[in-house]
Amino acid sequence: MTMKLSPQITGVHTPPITEVKRWLAERPDDGRELIDLCQAVPDYAPAADMTAHLAGLLGDPLTSRYSPDEGLPEVRGAVCDYYGRKYGAQLSPDNFCLTIGASQAFWLAIVTLCSAGDEVIVQAPAYFDHPMALEILGIRCVYAPFSEEQRGIPSPAAIETLITDRTRALLVVSPSNPTGAITPPGTLRQLFVLAKRRNIALILDETYNEFIPEGARPHDLFSDPTWGDTFVQVASFGKTYALTGYRAGQLVASAYFISQALKAQDTMAVCQPRITQQAIMYGVNHLDGWVATNCDMMCRRHDLFRQLFIQPGNRFRLAASGAFFAWVRHPFGTSSGREVAKRLVDEAAILSLPGEVFGPGLEGYLRLAFGNIKESAIPEAVLRFRELSINRN
Ligand SMILES: Cc1ncc(COP(=O)(O)O)c(C=O)c1O
Repeated sequence: MTMKLSPQITGVHTPPITEVKRWLAERPDDGRELIDLCQAVPDYAPAADMTAHLAGLLGDPLTSRYSPDEGLPEVRGAVCDYYGRKYGAQLSPDNFCLTIGASQAFWLAIVTLCSAGDEVIVQAPAYFDHPMALEILGIRCVYAPFSEEQRGIPSPAAIETLITDRTRALLVVSPSNPTGAITPPGTLRQLFVLAKRRNIALILDETYNEFIPEGARPHDLFSDPTWGDTFVQVASFGKTYALTGYRAGQLVASAYFISQALKAQDTMAVCQPRITQQAIMYGVNHLDGWVATNCDMMCRRHDLFRQLFIQPGNRFRLAASGAFFAWVRHPFGTSSGREVAKRLVDEAAILSLPGEVFGPGLEGYLRLAFGNIKESAIPEAVLRFRELSINRN
């Protein structure tokens, strides 16, 4: 190639899911079906009444047009009502920008808050797309270390020691990808108070907020009358309604913050597709029961996975787990997570992600997205871990 590419992009590693899926081509065929614990995607279809409703809208020429950058007012209004039920929040449509997944909402949050050279404190292990985005933008990712004792729950005291005059935000993902850890509302409140006291933002990624057992309220931060001075939420209906390909995200922040973020929205995406907006409006108006049923199903998967995985005889150790994910320590000493994940593909027909893609020093771990597989496949998945851990170094 003769043209020069930006070192900020060439220096970033290949997206991890792309990397591990490449290993499949070299996998010896031992007749066993692959168990895919790699990408966090609900394994079930969207609600049939939702897709039937959307099919009826496709012929309307309006469905193919742009919408306002922030999304249709009636959709944002319906989403406000949902936030009232879910968070006890009294938000206005001006607090929302509908985005191309939570992924784009994160970019909007970051470009609105930070310039190159600034710092963002990120709880490790971190969802890999976040550090990748920061690196591309020339923003320093400062990791708050993972503690097994805390089972992945952030420590406000540890985070405070990392704040400098370049820090613009603390980033927490709850429920966490990759640990599944659900940060308790009290800890989120402490992080909010800390961020407020130090004049920085608390960015909370709540992509998995509908997979908290019994639909418990994730936090009450939106009830604070000054929430918008400090708090920025990145969220998605992608997992909630099994619509990951629709790119159904949103940024939730003060009306002023959103008005600034819309400058970036206009140049990045213009708007979320209308068909996605219609899907979201249908979902928030009709699917609370459907969502609760799937949450219960995911909790059963978690409980079964956990119960089988921690039984004696498995040298893989569960370090943390929760909604969708298990974060496990592998038993192979100094082997990297990559080496072990590759062995799992070749010798156990299991696809997982190596720990080190979630932050430095995490080579001893793997992420398993058990939310991808049906309850009936969980015993076989756990058996393969047990078998691989017997008599091997
Ligand atoms: C923590 C977290 N944030 C954001 C995303 C991206 O979500 P979306 O598909 O809505 O862009 C994911 C996807 O797996 C995720 O795990």
